[in-house]
Amino acid sequence: MSNFVRIFDTTLRDGEQSPGCSMNLKEKLEMAHQLDRLGVDIMEAGFAIASPGDFASVKTIAKGMKNSCVASLARALTKDIDAAAEALKEAKFPRIHTFIATSDIHMAYKLKMTPEQVLEQAVAMVKYAKKYCGDIEFSAEDASRTNPEFLYRVLEAVIQAGATTVNIPDTVGYSAPDEFGALIRGIKEHVPSIDKAIISVHCHNDLGLGVANSLAALKNGAMQIECTVNGIGERAGNAALEEIVMNLKTRKDLYGVDTRINTKEIYKTSKLLSSITGVRVQPNKAIVGENAFAHESGIHQHGMLANKETYEIMTPESIGLTENKLVLGKHSGRHAFEDKIQSMGYELDEAGLNKAFEEFKVLADKKKEITDRDLEALVCRKVVSIPEAYKLDRFVINAGNTITTTSSMRLLTKTGHILEEVVSSYDGPIDASYKAIDRLVGKKFMLEDFVINSVTGGTDAQGEVNVKIKNKDRVYNGHGVSMDIVEASILAYISAINSMIYDEDENGRH
Ligand code: KIV
Ligand code: ZN
Repeated sequence: MSNFVRIFDTTLRDGEQSPGCSMNLKEKLEMAHQLDRLGVDIMEAGFAIASPGDFASVKTIAKGMKNSCVASLARALTKDIDAAAEALKEAKFPRIHTFIATSDIHMAYKLKMTPEQVLEQAVAMVKYAKKYCGDIEFSAEDASRTNPEFLYRVLEAVIQAGATTVNIPDTVGYSAPDEFGALIRGIKEHVPSIDKAIISVHCHNDLGLGVANSLAALKNGAMQIECTVNGIGERAGNAALEEIVMNLKTRKDLYGVDTRINTKEIYKTSKLLSSITGVRVQPNKAIVGENAFAHESGIHQHGMLANKETYEIMTPESIGLTENKLVLGKHSGRHAFEDKIQSMGYELDEAGLNKAFEEFKVLADKKKEITDRDLEALVCRKVVSIPEAYKLDRFVINAGNTITTTSSMRLLTKTGHILEEVVSSYDGPIDASYKAIDRLVGKKFMLEDFVINSVTGGTDAQGEVNVKIKNKDRVYNGHGVSMDIVEASILAYISAINSMIYDEDENGRH
């Protein structure tokens, strides 16, 4: 494929930096494998110097990726570049991504450096990084608010120093499409060595223009777009990967370029991220929102029946969204279950498969019609199996609108011990159950967020609960699914606690 735009995914770095989107090592690795299947050209795995956890993520992901190039972010400082290079040592295709701010306001107030000092530092650090790695990306932070003449000088100098990609971020999401396109055109016209490097763009979404600005840049010569799945990222987020890719695919007539993304993996990638972070996309979100392919009005439905193209500019199948049809029932065997899971594109290990099948059997006993969406909710997180320090054994709730609720909770520890506690509460079954679990675990957690959604329609739908709990300034996500929303809530809380214990064990945070 000669004329293709490189998709640089920064879900695991810029995306993960946003509130509520942090992931543990296993979750990042799982997401990285999914990004690799999706076909991103480059994935930014983290900011190696930021913390030992970030370093370990970059290192583990770098070692594990077979196809995608793996990048680590580094400020234009030797210690950052050393850490990035060390973490990327085992990558098949490593990239060091170094950056320094070039706008007057950032140079004066954040860096407290003169423009000449910034230029010198940028060149010196690109040369320094080049000792480790051939593939060097340089970003001029806040480029869209940088004096263009100075930006041209910096870009020319870093390309001469060895940068192979030069990235133009709209760091604060301030640009408008015409203006940002003109900036890229200006760079093409005024940087003499620009043909020796790929022009990349990195657009934030503060004014809702991240995708529009990226596409305008592409029309003016950018050949790499930095983006995140579901558009997660600092503040209002980054340009959304799925929107960029589907724009290019659907309007090939306009843009005339391809990507190497396997669009059939888009839906699954979006779901996996939401399920890991507990941050769902809005229903009307382009491409991956729940309603993105729903046609409610009679006129639209009539048109669709006559010819799908009346109202459908792209098909749900093109992003891997299968029809939500009845798939399996209580008589379905393990073989049929396994086949179905595979056909939906999930690759579970033996333990994950066993667990999912067990849960499927329990569900099939209670729910007559099991659909694609039900199965997705069951298997989505089985791919990321973290050790279970605690497991729900059973619970009994006595509740009513005129009595105090009592929750009797029984948990199993990983060593097989049974723990039991009974708690009463005026605040209902979930409060009583969470208090009982707190006592059994011997800690009191802050519940930062609690979201409940139904997986499908109908009163027999499964409930999906995402919770966030806080312990020592860190927030952990938990996820639970059950036809009983109290059970789903309990499972989500226990899964958040398991995630916290896993993180503390991994990172020595005791
Ligand atoms: O938004 C930004 O400027 C960045 C750079 C570090 C690329 O994230
Ligand atoms: Zn950014």
